[in-house]
Amino acid sequence: METHLTGITTTGTPHLGNYAGAIRPAIAASRRSDVQSFYFLADYHALVKNQDPQALQRSSLEVAATWLALGLDTSKSIFYRQSDIPEIPELTWLLTTITAKGLMNRAHAYKAAVQANEESGDADPDKGITMGLFSYPVLMAADILMFKAHRVPVGRDQKQHVEMARDIAQRFNHLFGEHFVLPEAVIAPNTAVLSGLDGRKMSKSYNNTIPLFVPASQLKKLIMRIKTNSLEPGQPKETTGSTLFEIYQAFATPDETAALAARYAAGAGWGDLKKELFEYLDAHLAEARGNYERLIADPGHVEQVLKAGAERARSLSVPFMKELRHAVGLRPVG
Ligand code: TRP
Repeated sequence: METHLTGITTTGTPHLGNYAGAIRPAIAASRRSDVQSFYFLADYHALVKNQDPQALQRSSLEVAATWLALGLDTSKSIFYRQSDIPEIPELTWLLTTITAKGLMNRAHAYKAAVQANEESGDADPDKGITMGLFSYPVLMAADILMFKAHRVPVGRDQKQHVEMARDIAQRFNHLFGEHFVLPEAVIAPNTAVLSGLDGRKMSKSYNNTIPLFVPASQLKKLIMRIKTNSLEPGQPKETTGSTLFEIYQAFATPDETAALAARYAAGAGWGDLKKELFEYLDAHLAEARGNYERLIADPGHVEQVLKAGAERARSLSVPFMKELRHAVGLRPVG
């Protein structure tokens, strides 16, 4: 059976953009019976950027509760927390020893950090860059290779990391025998990339997000803040480039979307359009929001679900790690 695997970095609170771009397609895929899917909280990765222990813990709870609230079937897919699998950092070291430093030098995220230093005229191009940021792709390779994932659904920005995992796997197999499956990145062709409140891509780093499960009153306030243009009621409006329209489209059926497009053309006012978007989202999210609130109020239950997932994951990682240790020569001497 084909194996799919993807990690969710536990930074911040899941927002509408995460939902439309990653969570919704993943939950749909997790229901397929011809695929074994693995989803995990990438909290070791989150540590690279986050030195606030409480924020990290809170984000793990929120991300786990979000996936569960939206109906992830944890009996079908394997849902766990990266830091519950000690074999992952162990494998990371084995991979680190055979990964060319030059390969890591070419990672986009690292190069962008160096470039930012150079542009700010800093004497040290590596200023503020930790070994965690530098070797981030090796940890990610361990995540992927540990569970022999064939396909790794990711956003475009992560494609290079999956290719690096493939390179690293190839080198390991060449040195020590065919232990790893060579993974492939899958960039879903039609996943929505949503704009945020200010019209730029919805992203935590721009501070322009609409969290998925805020209370209705706050959802309304945020929607009212979405940037629009100065066209008056009665003036026809363009749907392309309208954040409001984009968000609606990401949730609505094609018929509903066509009906909204007609309202734009007929010159509906921004105030009314915002109110309609709020009502639509509020109705669509209400049930999952209720689930989410119950889960957040019962973190012990969420912890239990994660622990059960880790147990299933470790039933694979423990024996595989044993095989890998043997392969590289970490063996009893007598
Ligand atoms: N780096 C990924 C991101 O920022 C998260 C991640 C960690 C991941 N490990 C992974 C994704 C393994 C896919 C496979 O989105």
